[in-house]
Amino acid sequence: MCGIFAYNGDTDCREKLVNGLRMLEYRGYDSAGIVGINEKNEVFLEKAVGRVSALASKVEDTSSDKTFYTTGIAHTRWATHGGVTQENTHPHISSNERFYIVHNGIIENYKELKAWLESEHNFYSQTDTEVVAKLIETLYTGELKSTLEAVAKKLVWAYSLAVIDKQDPGKIVGIKLWSPLIVGTAEDGVYISSDVNALAALAQTYTILEDHEMVVIEGKKYSIYLAGQQVERASQNIEESQKIDELGSFTSYTEKEIFDIPSVLENVWSGRINFEEKSIQNETLDALWDLDIERICIISSGSSYYAGEIGGYFFRNFSKIHCSAIISSEFLSDVFIPDSKTLYVFLSQSWETADVRESMKIVKAKWCHTFGVVNVVGSTIARMADYGLYSHAGVEVWVASTKNVIAQVWVLLMMALSLGQKRDMQVSDIREIISELAWLPDKISHALMDAPNIKKIAKKYSKYKDMFVLGRNYFYPVAGEAALKCKELSYIHCESYSAWELKHGPLALVSREFPTMVFNPMWKFYAKTISNIQEVAAREGPILWFISSTDTHKELYTDAIELPKTSELLSVFTALTTSYLFALYLAEALGRDIDKPRNLAKSVTVE
Ligand code: F6R
Repeated sequence: MCGIFAYNGDTDCREKLVNGLRMLEYRGYDSAGIVGINEKNEVFLEKAVGRVSALASKVEDTSSDKTFYTTGIAHTRWATHGGVTQENTHPHISSNERFYIVHNGIIENYKELKAWLESEHNFYSQTDTEVVAKLIETLYTGELKSTLEAVAKKLVWAYSLAVIDKQDPGKIVGIKLWSPLIVGTAEDGVYISSDVNALAALAQTYTILEDHEMVVIEGKKYSIYLAGQQVERASQNIEESQKIDELGSFTSYTEKEIFDIPSVLENVWSGRINFEEKSIQNETLDALWDLDIERICIISSGSSYYAGEIGGYFFRNFSKIHCSAIISSEFLSDVFIPDSKTLYVFLSQSWETADVRESMKIVKAKWCHTFGVVNVVGSTIARMADYGLYSHAGVEVWVASTKNVIAQVWVLLMMALSLGQKRDMQVSDIREIISELAWLPDKISHALMDAPNIKKIAKKYSKYKDMFVLGRNYFYPVAGEAALKCKELSYIHCESYSAWELKHGPLALVSREFPTMVFNPMWKFYAKTISNIQEVAAREGPILWFISSTDTHKELYTDAIELPKTSELLSVFTALTTSYLFALYLAEALGRDIDKPRNLAKSVTVE
């Protein structure tokens, strides 16, 4: 949450900073600001409440100012401390108007620090960041590096900071604990960013800072320090895959990412499944065979949690291994009983989810086995875990996770089949599943072709204020994920239940104004779920059914979204994909800002 971007070089920083913020806007879009300085100690400061586009217009309006500002820092905000106001917008400034600062994270002891600093400074905002700006002034040693070392000692928890001193232009100091900070180099200078993707269009190489490290950028050079000592770290080349694709003919990145799903599946299995031999072939998964695991615990949040729940069914069904999925914040708030026979699996698209990372630290502190499934290459979870596989979904640009959830489910399926290979699963069953999987991208492409019909149905359902989403077994977490996506994108109130559970209370809400979505393709619980649907129909609740094309109970539903004819297992993937289209078009019908849903940000970096 919150994105920071900075540039130091020999050209004007303003356009670069605004473009960098556009790429980081998924981290928060409440307000944005930039500050640039130059050799003559002149300052360019601009802030805007709202989107980066509002800031961009203000900056464009100053294009007649031909002054060059070659050192600059920038920020896009997701409000935590204080409302969405101009005063709370970063960059923040010290009382002597010398030090400017942008911050991603939360300073947990900011109230104590503020109380301590109040005799010396007047505060204009409610933010924790302004406190750090004032602290820099109070602790100033004569230069920024040692000042920031002293400041860091006073701060409790989470920050990545970029700081400039008006009296010392041509220099930026960045420091991080927990929140990400990445340095990029290009011919025209050195950049700082909250992620690699925002650097991809501007820089050639990048270096990820570790916790407690500091970067000092002077001119076009930078040095990294840990506890005052210089650290040597090789930089990496920015890959083509880290660049953000053009939107093309799609109306939102969310839509584009849903249509990317068939190709994502091929990336996920590449080098991991041998379709000729019909077996899972992956060294990381093979290594799990030697661990003598008896249980699996999957820890994650939001959509990744639902992916974990679906994975639980795979592990129980195919590997015959106990598996439970738990929301990471609940894991943190409960008693941890370490178990050397459990494999703790952490799922996170972004790698930045605070609760997931904290959970992993707790598990690792007890020397238990950890496995990370992460999308962002080089991320901390990936480096912290004993074992791991990337979900290889490609960059997810905006807030709603779609193609990555499918990729996570796919990785969990491969893990379950691999462990099944080692345990009791029949080779013929594995071969049959793998033969089927080869068809999945085609089946999903087929499901996506139904977009015009789904759009029509979504328009009809956009008039409702509330909806239930039902499923059983595999389709229970699928229903949870579908409800989450509908809420997040359309702001319609959607609740998911196990279809069994509806009559234990929620059925009281069903009426002509309260529709129910049901996932019930032709599968082992088809008939039982029909009974639940009948209970809804008897109360005149409209029913939107995600069904198989071969369905025989057409009289029961009000509307239907047909899933391509597949096995039960593959319909988990087609059901997820079509539910994403439904949520997208529901939101579109209501005129929502699909890529930037209200109140949200993609990276949830606070507990
Ligand atoms: C919903 C969504 C969120 C994330 C959740 C966890 O569309 O994107 O619910 O799934 O915030 O994020 P990661 O997977 O990055 O840990």
